[in-house]
Amino acid sequence: MIRKIVKFPDPMLQQPGEPVAEFDAELRQLVADMFETMYASQGIGLAAQQVGVCKRVTVIDLSQAKDPAQKLVIINPEIIFREGKQYEEEGCLSFPEIREKVVRAAKVRIRAQDENGKWFEMDGEDLLARAFQHEIDHLDGMLFIFRMSALKRDLNLRKIRKMQRDGVW
Ligand code: NI
Repeated sequence: MIRKIVKFPDPMLQQPGEPVAEFDAELRQLVADMFETMYASQGIGLAAQQVGVCKRVTVIDLSQAKDPAQKLVIINPEIIFREGKQYEEEGCLSFPEIREKVVRAAKVRIRAQDENGKWFEMDGEDLLARAFQHEIDHLDGMLFIFRMSALKRDLNLRKIRKMQRDGVW
């Protein structure tokens, strides 16, 4: 089922997610719905807060449903290693139309659970590293607009306010 995507400035987006303790049917349904919702909006990552569920669950698929091997379910994650720096453009399904460069680590290693509760570690670099950092930020209630320079952040906040006034946000 496609769920409604929560848009900035909904306070849900700045609330840290609760750790997942039950790896049950409800969680599997949430994960399935998150993939469906993300694909419907051509996204490559989605956090549970973005569908109104305050839990530490995120899904990533850089292939946008073209390669099943790239479907990642990441639950209760933490970044255990980071290296280098990258400065590339990012977007976010909770900020339609907004794209901006954000500083991120070039490589990260995460430790997380899959939808069955099994712990795993995974390395990512470039786009995957960026997706890990962007989505894990969401689970901490942190949004990419607050990772931008103050100048870019203010410009984008003004853009959003204008879209809100025009009724297109
Ligand atoms: Ni996002």
